[in-house]
Amino acid sequence: MSKLCLTLTEKTLKDCNNILKTNIHEIDLIELRVDFLNSNEQKNIKYFNTNIPVILTFRKVVDGGLYEGEEKYRKEILLEGIKCGNFDFVDLEEDLIAPKLESAAKEHNVKIIRSFHDFNGVPQNLGKKLLKIRRNLDEIPKAAVMINNTKDLLVFYKEALSIKDDNKILLGMGTFGFNTRILAAKIGSYLTFCSKEGVSAAPGHVSPSILNGIYRFREIKKDWLLIGIIGNPVMHTMSPGLHNDGYSKLGLDAVYIPFETDDLQSFLELANLLELKGFSVTVPFKNDIIPLLDNVTNGVKEIGACNTVIKIDKMWVGENTDSLGFINPLLEKYGTLKEKKVTVIGAGGAAKSALYELKKEGAKVLLLNRTMSKAEELSKQFNTLFAKLDINSINKIKEFSDVVIQTTNVGMHPLENINPLDFFNFTGKEFLYDIIYTPKETLFLKSGVVNGCKTLNGWQMLLEQGYRQFKLFTGYEYPME
Ligand code: ATR
Repeated sequence: MSKLCLTLTEKTLKDCNNILKTNIHEIDLIELRVDFLNSNEQKNIKYFNTNIPVILTFRKVVDGGLYEGEEKYRKEILLEGIKCGNFDFVDLEEDLIAPKLESAAKEHNVKIIRSFHDFNGVPQNLGKKLLKIRRNLDEIPKAAVMINNTKDLLVFYKEALSIKDDNKILLGMGTFGFNTRILAAKIGSYLTFCSKEGVSAAPGHVSPSILNGIYRFREIKKDWLLIGIIGNPVMHTMSPGLHNDGYSKLGLDAVYIPFETDDLQSFLELANLLELKGFSVTVPFKNDIIPLLDNVTNGVKEIGACNTVIKIDKMWVGENTDSLGFINPLLEKYGTLKEKKVTVIGAGGAAKSALYELKKEGAKVLLLNRTMSKAEELSKQFNTLFAKLDINSINKIKEFSDVVIQTTNVGMHPLENINPLDFFNFTGKEFLYDIIYTPKETLFLKSGVVNGCKTLNGWQMLLEQGYRQFKLFTGYEYPME
């Protein structure tokens, strides 16, 4: 298990203490960032007395901190901190030559964390470099490196897993590197850092309640089963909460982690390296992942979209749980769709799953899209009518208005102020289904509600496709209670 360290970036020691009090039950140690303190407070760190281990850090601007002053002053403050007995660790950068600090640390039993930062990317031979920066073997070497893309992430994990010694602190910064913080135990990092709610002291920091509440950070062990989700962007997804909650309720040693991705080939190599059991696939990779897999189900072939990948007998197999996730809530709330006239807005991946199931249920479908060529292509695949998403299609929509289904991202942030069907007036008889779940009621749904229409949003779809993935990944039914 790795430890969780809260980085304190307040201006006063009193505020640092208050933040510590609020978070104390969720963390193992804290890092006092002297460079964030007001200068008069910096001289008072000897009064910062806590009952939790503390790392003393006084970071210069070049290393990602705020301090721009004289090196002499910085060393004086660090020396005072080491001598005062309130600090268990001191962070000294790899290029800091300070024999006085080193001998004082030894004398006062303060462990040295020897750190380097690379805000450009993952350096060549990260593993070797990390072990070389120690000035003696008692020190804990630390590297924080920026992960700019999936290739960087792959190099990071290859290097991290090559170091067998767990006496190190290693993390990848940025959105692409967020998963390296969750997987601190997997890569044998002594700790990972986090920030108070709503603040990121460094790129990729989240709050202790996210790391513990969603990812069970302080329980994760090296041998836990890993399951991922890929997308771009991926950080907004609710899926980690859903899956990890299920693992927790069943007591499974498994964690579901987001991987912001920009290169599927590198991701698959990484998935093999980390021995992922499987991964969810979200926008924009539901189509592009298919040719890279060893096998896909007939459903995936017919729909042309894959949202679930599982490792079976060393092969990556693609499944689609979106389509049943889409149709079941609709059937439950609306009833049979046989011979019903249905309009579907959008011709992307989500529309494909919708069309596949609607045709299976015997509905008659009109497909509307902003770009006609895409509507035409999909209408051929699923044998539907199609029209342009504009005011000239009003009469056709009226004809196909038992159910009107919205499958685009229009209505969701940052397009929350747009209703893709704003030219159409509902009579109140139509049933509206929007697959968006944030906001709960899109402008499209609102425009129906004010006229008396019954509606359904995408929340139940999110859950249903997730429950099915859960079963595929773990072999267990989702614990509904
Ligand atoms: P997904 O896999 O989530 O369905 P996608 O394949 O990128 O994502 O498809 C997005 C859908 O939203 C498309 O139908 C797109 O219309 P175009 O084919 O014309 O691009 C639709 N869409 C996106 N932004 C839109 C907008 N501002 N107005 C109308 N439709 C929009």
